[in-house]
Amino acid sequence: MNGKQVEIEVTDLAFSGKAVGHLDGKVVFLDGGLPGEKVLAQITASRPRFDKASVIKILRESERRVPAVCPHFAYCGGCTWQDLTYQDQLVYKKKQVTDCLERIGGLEDTTVRDVIGSVEVFRYRNKMEFSFNTAPEGGFTLGLHRRGRFDEIFDLERCFLTQDLVSEIVVWVRDYVCREGLSVYDVSNHTGYMRFVMIRQAKRTRDLMVNVVTNYGDFPQRDRFIREITTAFPQITTLVHNQNGQKSNVATGEIETVLFGCGYVEERLFDSSFRIRANSFFQTNTVQTETLYRVGFDLLEPRPNYRVLDLYCGTGSIGILLAPYVENVVGVELVSDAIKVARENAHVNGTKNISFFEGSVKDFLKSKEAQEGQFNIVIVDPPRAGLHPKAMKRLIGFGPEKILYISCNPSTFARDAGELVAAGYKLPVVRPVDMFPHTMHIELASVFSRN
Ligand SMILES: C[S@@+](CC[C@H](N)C(=O)[O-])C[C@H]1O[C@@H](n2cnc3c(N)ncnc32)[C@H](O)[C@@H]1O
Repeated sequence: MNGKQVEIEVTDLAFSGKAVGHLDGKVVFLDGGLPGEKVLAQITASRPRFDKASVIKILRESERRVPAVCPHFAYCGGCTWQDLTYQDQLVYKKKQVTDCLERIGGLEDTTVRDVIGSVEVFRYRNKMEFSFNTAPEGGFTLGLHRRGRFDEIFDLERCFLTQDLVSEIVVWVRDYVCREGLSVYDVSNHTGYMRFVMIRQAKRTRDLMVNVVTNYGDFPQRDRFIREITTAFPQITTLVHNQNGQKSNVATGEIETVLFGCGYVEERLFDSSFRIRANSFFQTNTVQTETLYRVGFDLLEPRPNYRVLDLYCGTGSIGILLAPYVENVVGVELVSDAIKVARENAHVNGTKNISFFEGSVKDFLKSKEAQEGQFNIVIVDPPRAGLHPKAMKRLIGFGPEKILYISCNPSTFARDAGELVAAGYKLPVVRPVDMFPHTMHIELASVFSRN
């Protein structure tokens, strides 16, 4: 079957970003094509329950197809749906949430509202990470991952999800590293120095951070680097160096040195200011973050007698924004950098009725502080993996009146929602919010209340 060319009608889009068709009653995952299209494809892998195929030619085009604006679109792992109209992207994102709730969570009575679209569909990101890798033919690349490849990076010229200035900095850093002959990390054998460039530009203040993540060791000729990059880009407000000797491919560091400026950027949400440091989480689409939080707060209906636990609180944004409307808030977060910034943020915003706990959610939930806090409301905004089984068990044991669950992954949300409903919570409605146009990612807000 491998290598065989076939004509396939595309019927759906899968959560992985692949298109879906059928051949002789078997599902085929395609690397291109849109629902309603007929394609000529070559089978690349055959498994007992499905085949994989690569699209050679589109034989009949969908009227929902639009030209992709980005020259990297054909191979970049960032955007998968730039060739589908934005309205249709939202339709498929809603379908993704509905399917997950029904199939994984077993929840058929929950209403999934229409997805709230992003105000900006391009240049919406306030943060991007770019990776270095050695190239097989010699030299190196600096840019984004090729679709489906953790070990292949292509040289980025311009990314439409971020500001052109960000792409210009990436091109400049690549030239600098080449000119200076700095060694570049090789992901296959974990040697070499330059690993990532992370750039964060606050939407509202225009503060601009460049964070260079390297293997262990001081930055060579660092004064020259600082002088040259800040001369080339006077818009840079802070420059940070993070050292990371771990094999895991993440653009964070263990040893941080601020090379220039204050070491953080300041972003605004509603009327509040938030400091964001290199290693701490902040939502990447600033404008849509306000929408997501507003939707969540509307569902929660805050009251002055609410004692709120904000689990997975990051830099404290949700708790700080909610604090004026409730009795008190305790934020819980694993990353110590984020907790440090969360405390600064509470101080900067004059929020007195909030405190923070550094540690894991599952440990906090069995701590004395958790038992004594008399929390009646819990907010959870976990990473893509959703709630850890022990955290879930302890949360259910805790029995809050309401749980505001913000999720960036409908599959793990559906799994957790199924458990909460089985434990006696109601989930009448889910409100998806699109934070990531042109990708298959979708965020959602929901409130579970005790029966
Ligand atoms: C999706 S972010 C949410 C951050 C924040 N609520 C916001 O809206 O900006 C998830 C956060 O959970 C933190 N985290 C991950 N695992 C954790 C754990 N086991 N216990 C506590 N925090 C954790 C991450 O460091 C990250 O800051």
